[in-house]
Amino acid sequence: MTKVVQNIIERAAKLNKNIVLPEAEDSRVVIAACEVARQGFARITLLGNEEQIKAQNPDCNLNGVVIINPETYENTNLYAQMLFDARQGKINKKTGQPEFATVEAAKANILGDYTMYGALMLKAGHVDGMVSGACHSTANTLRPGLQVIKTGAGEKIVSACFLMVAPEQGNQYCEDGCYIYADCALNQNPTAEELAYIALSSARSAQSITCITPRIAFISHSSKGSAKHNDVTKVTEAFNIFKQIAPEYNADGELQFDAAIVPSVAKSKAPNSTVAGHANVLIFPDLDAGNTNYKNTERLGGFQAVGPICQGFAKPINDLSRGCSSEDIVATVAITALQAQ
Ligand SMILES: CC(C)(COP(=O)(O)OP(=O)(O)OC[C@H]1O[C@@H](n2cnc3c(N)ncnc32)[C@H](O)[C@@H]1OP(=O)(O)O)[C@@H](O)C(=O)NCCC(=O)NCCS
Repeated sequence: MTKVVQNIIERAAKLNKNIVLPEAEDSRVVIAACEVARQGFARITLLGNEEQIKAQNPDCNLNGVVIINPETYENTNLYAQMLFDARQGKINKKTGQPEFATVEAAKANILGDYTMYGALMLKAGHVDGMVSGACHSTANTLRPGLQVIKTGAGEKIVSACFLMVAPEQGNQYCEDGCYIYADCALNQNPTAEELAYIALSSARSAQSITCITPRIAFISHSSKGSAKHNDVTKVTEAFNIFKQIAPEYNADGELQFDAAIVPSVAKSKAPNSTVAGHANVLIFPDLDAGNTNYKNTERLGGFQAVGPICQGFAKPINDLSRGCSSEDIVATVAITALQAQ
């Protein structure tokens, strides 16, 4: 376990949050649940049939893990009613019919989709966060949250950041030992307004997950008007919107990547900026840039990429990679607990 994950776990332990893991059919999830219970930094709720889970994972010590069986749980009808109410008036894109004609239809849905069930537990305040996606696609993991949890106060869009952790020996530009990069996994081509809100969520993620003071750079292929193009205009507009909605944060744009993090380059390209050369939250103009840059920093720069970390939800939900290990799930539970504070 890296120092940064250890630090996140230590901070999560002070919060004692309850995180639901809906994919108990996957042994990696059950192993992770047992490990979190052993370490005691969060409470875990698994969804499924207790006897089956125990039979499939005979070596796991499930002491301290709560197992809820949606088929028999006393709140299942409540969650079905909540889903029915939340989705009133919504039309199923495929059938053209209402998503749920009756509460019974909503109940059948949640009994066939435990990620939705977990999202409704979260909405009801019966758990503090959800981690899913070990055996479901990103779309199927996030859609329940997008549909019933929605965005948080002051947020307009759900996005995904990565915590990029500098290598052990350090990095000459990385003053805080880490960066936040966004959006690296969710929104293909955000508008200027969406980009501004992605920056706001990212600043909040920097504070809750890392405790660093955010210095936010809106990244472009231009620094302070050095190039003219619609793509540059979008980024400057995003920065201007951000100044209106979040004046309390130190931000600047548009800045090239080097102008954002290299002090000597910043001196010549953005000499009056208090962010240029020292940025620690990097907002990329679209998904191509965000995704490519995090992989580049990871592979060529030797940084550890922690994420994707979903941000902007009213209550925290995180999506796992289907190739994840149980250690990855443990780390994601700790991050989710920090987001729930
Ligand atoms: C995010 C995603 C799952 C949404 O898929 P979808 O269900 O087809 O999207 P829809 O447009 O039907 O939206 C469903 C609901 O979510 C909301 N929504 C979609 N994207 C949202 C976002 N980024 N933020 C907030 N709400 C969002 C919609 O407003 C809609 O709400 P409603 O049903 O209450 O009206 C989909 O865009 C996706 O899979 N994105 C790419 C993710 C990916 O593959 N990443 C890995 C590559 S790096």
